[in-house]
Amino acid sequence: MRGTGRLYNFAAGPATLPPEVLAKARESLGDWQGLGYSLLETPFSSDEFISLMETTRNQIKSALALPDDYQVLLLQGGASAQFSLVPLNLLPATATAGYVETGHWSTRAFEEGRRYARARLVASSRTSQFDRIPPVDHWALSDDLQYCHITSNETANGVQFHADPSCGDIPLVADMTSDFLSRPVDIRRYGLIYAGTQKNLGPTGLVIVIIRDDLLDRARPETPTVFNYQRQLERQNRVNTPLMFAVYLVHLMLDWLTEQGGLTSIHARNIAQSRALYRVIDEDDFFQCRVLPGHRSMMNVCFGLARPQLQQRFVSEAADRGLLNLTGHSHAGGLRASLYNAQPDAAVAALAAFMTDFRQRYG
Ligand SMILES: Cc1ncc(COP(=O)(O)O)c(C=O)c1O
Repeated sequence: MRGTGRLYNFAAGPATLPPEVLAKARESLGDWQGLGYSLLETPFSSDEFISLMETTRNQIKSALALPDDYQVLLLQGGASAQFSLVPLNLLPATATAGYVETGHWSTRAFEEGRRYARARLVASSRTSQFDRIPPVDHWALSDDLQYCHITSNETANGVQFHADPSCGDIPLVADMTSDFLSRPVDIRRYGLIYAGTQKNLGPTGLVIVIIRDDLLDRARPETPTVFNYQRQLERQNRVNTPLMFAVYLVHLMLDWLTEQGGLTSIHARNIAQSRALYRVIDEDDFFQCRVLPGHRSMMNVCFGLARPQLQQRFVSEAADRGLLNLTGHSHAGGLRASLYNAQPDAAVAALAAFMTDFRQRYG
């Protein structure tokens, strides 16, 4: 037991979820839709489940205002599987793809992508230790690129694209795992978006793929059928048994997002929450954020202490006050507060107050 106060979970994903969504999810473990059994026991070919999949895809289309030539797939394997499945579905083995390296996850995507194609880095902020997004007019784009891959939010490093870059005619592919549906996007800039759902939408293992029609039906023959975008689209995502409970959770989270006022409202809240923490960090040198202003993530606030020997004390005193999971990613170190859509304002206020108090006592 951690005392009697309210607990706030700042984990980077799986992450905190709205209590009302969890309550509804629990109800589905009883009699789901009057069928007499739970969602977990429902045939995936039933009208009820087919309709749930359809509704969920339509909710994603409407949240992002997707034009008719963009399709939505709900696949298994999480976001990491897409590091391989994007090249397998889009590229012949001899083709070249470009990657923008901005931190841990884009490096992972690039390393995996180069196993399947002639992947090359078109820009990288490695030499400045991933403290920024390289400006798009400095990217080494060339006509031979079949796509250009970005990671819109670097979960481990706390760096984020705040505008959708334009790559001209080169299809832009984005791993949006950690900022999907956190802000409106200019969808026409993208050829393909993928996002694991364990940050803003709840479940692990499920990945949403949004693909423009002209990029479909290009898969290499050896692409596993269950991961072939065209085959899954033709079979309405039922080439194999879908992640039914995960799809339901995403559906509930999309309902919740609408109740919050949609992407414009949630974006304003995300900006306000992250600013509140960066303000405390920037007050003096006690806390430090290495990411340049203007490039900082509103989802994952990554920071450290000028005296790193205080870090363990910070984490354990925070936990004593119900502020949980503030340790940074194992590759990046330091501290990290993740502020996904479902993070309540009260959590951010409590953390900001704790940080101010901690500085007063140890600064
Ligand atoms: C930006 C980004 N991409 C990919 C992944 C990997 O996701 P998964 O564990 O679903 O494969 C993560 C996980 O945190 C992530 O943050």
